[in-house]
Amino acid sequence: RPRVLSGIQPSAGSFHLGNYLGAVRQWVALQETHDAFYMVVDLHAITVPQDPAELRANTRLSVAQLLGAGLDPERCTLFVQSHVPEHAQLAWVMNCLTGFGEASRMTQFKDKSSKQGSDRTTVGLFTYPVLQVADILLYQANQVPVGEDQRQHVELTRDLATRFNGRFGETFTVPDPYILRETAKIYDLQEPTAKMSKSASTAKGLINLMDEPKATAKKVKSAVTDTEAVIRYDVAEKPGVSNLLTIYSTLTGAEVTELEEKYAGKGYGALKTDLAEVLVDFVTAFRDRTQQYLDDPETLDAILAKGAEKARAVAAETLAQAYDKVGFLPAK
Ligand code: TYM
Repeated sequence: RPRVLSGIQPSAGSFHLGNYLGAVRQWVALQETHDAFYMVVDLHAITVPQDPAELRANTRLSVAQLLGAGLDPERCTLFVQSHVPEHAQLAWVMNCLTGFGEASRMTQFKDKSSKQGSDRTTVGLFTYPVLQVADILLYQANQVPVGEDQRQHVELTRDLATRFNGRFGETFTVPDPYILRETAKIYDLQEPTAKMSKSASTAKGLINLMDEPKATAKKVKSAVTDTEAVIRYDVAEKPGVSNLLTIYSTLTGAEVTELEEKYAGKGYGALKTDLAEVLVDFVTAFRDRTQQYLDDPETLDAILAKGAEKARAVAAETLAQAYDKVGFLPAK
């Protein structure tokens, strides 16, 4: 079985619809066909300030949401990044192989740091992508299921794996991004040319899965469309309608062309009403399942303990190989 590895940040608490459609949904599918490792990346979260109690609660909530979305600990390895110390250890080695200029070109870093100013930007945020490289390489992942915004970080992973292998001998699998075209980028409902994102979106444009279903329905109904009043998939000319069609199609399994036919001659109101219903059904079931895991902390802890153990077995072996290759003296 080919191996996949991916991660999600706990910092927002609730996942948003972009996280789910762009990534988590694929994680659920891939656990059937792949040897799958999925984690909540709390080390990444502290690259920006976090309240400790909130971070802990949001890490739990994130794990519960992953289970609520359909991850099955019998079929995949689900763990918390900080439970596996090898991530930070391999990240150090990778930091020493990364060019300062190379790291400076990471667009997510440039975006985030330009908003913060250099004194509030941490060195951790700067080396964030290198930690992600270590995450992926530790598991010798063949594929990395993510949204489009993570493509550059997977490219960096490929570059560093190739560099390490070239310098020290074959050690790491060079991974491919696994990005589904249709859902690679889910857009903000109010500003449908910008990606849906916790930090950039207004509350009305962002669908949080843990919000009250009623609030979600309202946001769908006030989504920005256009004045043409024709339901047609055309990202360039009709970004708002196209985004709604993508969401609708992915959640129901109906092809976009089928939806265009179904809504021929109908107004945006009809599309929004139906999509609101689809989403309300989805989030209602998702929240119920998530709540069940939140209500049972012992089960959740047991899942994470087992996940960390399985993850560590793989990570420790890869780290030992990498340490040996770079010339560290083995600890006897
Ligand atoms: P994060 O937590 O920002 O997002 C989790 C996943 O959601 C995807 N995503 C989207 N997909 C489509 N449309 C959107 N609007 C949208 N917004 C978010 C992201 O692409 C991501 O796949 N650096 C990563 C976490 C990470 C990681 C890793 C991922 C750490 N280590 C190793 C893969 C492998 C991040 O911040 O994702």
